Amino acid sequence: MSKLINFITRSRVWRSFFRHGWPDNPLDRSLVMTTNIFFHLHPVKVRRKSLRATYSFGLGIISVIVFTVLSITGLLLMFYYAPTIERAYSYILTLQTRVPFGQLLRNLHRWGAHLMVIVVVLHMARVFYTGAYKPPREFNWVVGVLLLILTLGASFTGYLLPWDQLAYWAITVGTSVAGYEPIMGSAIKAALLGGPEVGQEALTRFYALHVMLIPGVIALLTSLHLWRVRKDGGLAVQDPAEEDKE
Ligand code: HEM
Repeated sequence: MSKLINFITRSRVWRSFFRHGWPDNPLDRSLVMTTNIFFHLHPVKVRRKSLRATYSFGLGIISVIVFTVLSITGLLLMFYYAPTIERAYSYILTLQTRVPFGQLLRNLHRWGAHLMVIVVVLHMARVFYTGAYKPPREFNWVVGVLLLILTLGASFTGYLLPWDQLAYWAITVGTSVAGYEPIMGSAIKAALLGGPEVGQEALTRFYALHVMLIPGVIALLTSLHLWRVRKDGGLAVQDPAEEDKE
């Protein structure tokens, strides 16, 4: 048995996957971190205080995980949906009543969307209360604000897709409110609706925004956001001197 394990771990294929030995020495431990796509997101050095679970509550990572769940469940929902005003609602009913686990799938996506808004807002509050918006992280704060707007945009555009009464009237009210925004209001409303009222053009646009544009930009900006966290030296610790005393 040990010969077989030896043979496997020395093979070229194994070594092309795992480019380090067993992590029982400093070199292999650092290689584990730098050669792993997930671990290498961490900066080379992190502050001890920022590693405490209660420092960030992992809210940023939870946002990433919820976004991934939403992307997967959203992709599956696309198998049972078409953005036409004649059939969208009946597709949703069929999904809930006839498709195995359809109701669960829809609920995972819907509750996931609510959860993402809550978690992202809490993450923003954590960043604010730990003073992590200050230099050099002000750029990442701005990226974060864009991510918050996109997260709200994803919820808003997704709301219309079931094409039920709630969806129809919520978007009618929402786009009317947007229309009152000074200067750009009527242009924003026209761009969203593609016509004088909520109809097929609006449904097509909301669908395109919801399944392609918004998630695509969220994925790109999240990559930038995580890369900046690494480049800015990990999580901010307000007073490094205070930490040195620990
Ligand atoms: C889709 C939404 C978002 C995702 C996926 C996300 C993800 C992350 C992750 C994984 C981290 C690493 C630290 C942690 O887990 O707390 C982080 C840090 C950070 N985020 Fe976000 N974030 C999002 C939205 C926001 C928002 C709305 C803001 C503020 C307006 C923001 C500002 C920041 C800043 C400044 C840091 C650095 C924190 C520090 O150095 O302590 N992010 N984000």
